[in-house]
Amino acid sequence: MENFTVYNPTKVLFGTGIIKSLGTETKSYGSKALLVYGKGSVKKYGYYDQVVDQLKQSGIEIVEYEGIKPNPILEDVEAASALGRKEAVDVVVAVGGGSVIDSAKIIALGIANNENTWDYMTQKKKPEITLPLIAILTLAATGTEMNAAAVVQNHATGEKIGYAHPLNFPKASFLDPSFTITVPANYTAFGIVDLIAHALELYFGKGDASLTDRITFSIIQDAMDWGPKLLSDLSNVEMRANIMLDAMAALNGITAYGKQSGDWGVHMLGHEMSLLFDTPHGASLSIVYPAWLKVHKEIIPDRIIKLGTALFGVDNVDATISGLEDFFKQIGSPIRLSEINIDATMANDMLKQYKNNEINGVNLPLAAHYQKLIELML
Ligand code: NZQ
Ligand code: ZN
Repeated sequence: MENFTVYNPTKVLFGTGIIKSLGTETKSYGSKALLVYGKGSVKKYGYYDQVVDQLKQSGIEIVEYEGIKPNPILEDVEAASALGRKEAVDVVVAVGGGSVIDSAKIIALGIANNENTWDYMTQKKKPEITLPLIAILTLAATGTEMNAAAVVQNHATGEKIGYAHPLNFPKASFLDPSFTITVPANYTAFGIVDLIAHALELYFGKGDASLTDRITFSIIQDAMDWGPKLLSDLSNVEMRANIMLDAMAALNGITAYGKQSGDWGVHMLGHEMSLLFDTPHGASLSIVYPAWLKVHKEIIPDRIIKLGTALFGVDNVDATISGLEDFFKQIGSPIRLSEINIDATMANDMLKQYKNNEINGVNLPLAAHYQKLIELML
């Protein structure tokens, strides 16, 4: 087991109707909010109205930034930061999925510091302050609601990178599973893949602790149990709640106990796919994970078999990998590039990205496997 530190200051308010506490909770941090959201789902399904009602009832003035796209981009982060500074907001409220909440974390930094936010994301500058962030989650997947990470794309530099800093933790996150019943089947499946991938990234990270392995397996088993049932009953709030909790737990720190770090190689490879082809995050991961496991099957066979035994009751690497592939297929997430119309020529662009951005895992190096990974994904 490695030495480790536990720190998670985010207050989580979980459950149906929990939005009723939004006004008072937000009011304790500010009186003028920048409300950040995506491309329309929150308005279409009525979540926006509930959030705005709550804020208004508590006398909070609202300035809005609309239109954060899936796989969010730096241009939106910069524009929203500029608006927040101009309007002198004192709190940021984000309502949406990972793309919106991640953007809001960096927007809060940008407002408080009046600096180019990319300098923080690339660690050229170290922030000392930020604005308080209140998050209302509408899609179970990323764990951003209870972690310190934010992922943003910069097309000018050709990068999609994650930035983790303790200042990024939301002050409070509202997790109402009924806000997720409208997530369509494809994004529901991508969210399930993403949460499983987070558990796996930590599992394949540096150091191990037997309790953490058991927690990790339980999270994955729970998601594998509820996932297919939820996909045939998308508006089932209780099932949504179970998946929401799985996603929160997969990346809120508990899967990192006894670890020095996760691996994150699969995420790094997936981010290049999203950057080039705008592939939804979870879909990129269900394509990369089987290939990644195949190139590592002779490098870390025991670790892969331990996973396979826990999840599928099997005792070999190949059966473990096909167990995962079958699950991804069962819930309708792609496992090969051809399923999302990426051919060998396009895949070659990904290879260039891997080389340019020196894509690697923290624990397991990847440079020797780039070509093989591409072949296995096709
Ligand atoms: O834009 P709108 O109209 O809101 O629609 C969104 C979007 O099209 C829609 N949606 C969200 N909630 C909905 C809904 N549709 C109907 N009903 C609802 N309740 O879903 C689509 C996808 O939204 P997005 O926010 O992009 O999805 P997700 O939550 O999967 O976030 C993905 C982003 O998070 C990053 C990914 O790289 C990606 O950029 N990640 C963040 C992490 C973190 N901060 O810890 C870790 C992850 O590994 C990941 O990298
Ligand atoms: Zn992820």
